[in-house]
Amino acid sequence: MKTLKLGLIGHPVKHSLSPWIHHQFMKQAGIEGEYHLYSIEPEVFEDKISKLLESGINGFNITVPYKQRIIPFLDELDPDAEKIGAVNTAVYKDGKWIGYNTDGAGYVRALKQVLPADSSTQRVLMLGAGGAARGIYRALVTEGFSYVDIANRTREKAEQLLQLQEPETVTEILTFAEAEEQIKKYDIIIHTTSVGMSPADNEQIVSLSGLKPNAVVSDIVYKPIETKLLRSAKEQEATIHHGHSMLLYQAQYAFEIWSGKQIIIGDLLDRLEQKVT
Ligand code: ATR
Repeated sequence: MKTLKLGLIGHPVKHSLSPWIHHQFMKQAGIEGEYHLYSIEPEVFEDKISKLLESGINGFNITVPYKQRIIPFLDELDPDAEKIGAVNTAVYKDGKWIGYNTDGAGYVRALKQVLPADSSTQRVLMLGAGGAARGIYRALVTEGFSYVDIANRTREKAEQLLQLQEPETVTEILTFAEAEEQIKKYDIIIHTTSVGMSPADNEQIVSLSGLKPNAVVSDIVYKPIETKLLRSAKEQEATIHHGHSMLLYQAQYAFEIWSGKQIIIGDLLDRLEQKVT
């Protein structure tokens, strides 16, 4: 294969770990390539994107705040990206720019590493209903998870996620207080809000008191690596799942789209954890 030209657009992107991750993947796959960071100011987005699309680049990732704004520049969308309404991966293939969303699917791949083989009948509680939650909810229901309840501060936002259901999906919309009352019925709890996202933010969105002994508690926040929610899950002897693995698995899926190569995660998760902490 010729040199693979990749990158990330967003604002800001300076501290992104994606170049490191994709260089590890290229090394493993034996592919020569580059992965550049493109920090684009919102006022010049249209101009910069048009130039990037014609620059000979093979594909790129899209992060905040451009996951929706990129869509009109692409020729086609993968059906799940279209449903989710956000794109984090673009690939140039057969003369067309195609958009995908690997965030949610990557997250579910990561989560499955800590779940038993057949976990699709387990009860899932999702906390939050923002952009990240949309992708995760869609990936959960396409992976066959049948019971996925959603608790969010703003009820209407949670209700919008119901458009992403599959016919067999059962979803109840809850307040945080209701979720807390019923916490013992869930096998998997996924936190997707921005609460707890800075080391100084010692908030926890729901109490986990009374949690099922074998429950899995997952937090997509990866900085700090151990949020208050995860610390409290540990105290309850739950299995905990850290957010940085989502970063790696969404990248693994994006790299498959760009290169057609399967990547083995192996020790990369531990090495990434060292970079995050
Ligand atoms: P992202 O793309 O990271 O998911 P987002 O789309 O802005 O970001 O969504 C943020 C999520 O965090 C939402 O579920 C939001 O709740 P609302 O829908 O009610 O806004 C949630 N969130 C943010 N700050 C919160 C807070 N202080 N308390 C509770 N929920 C909060």
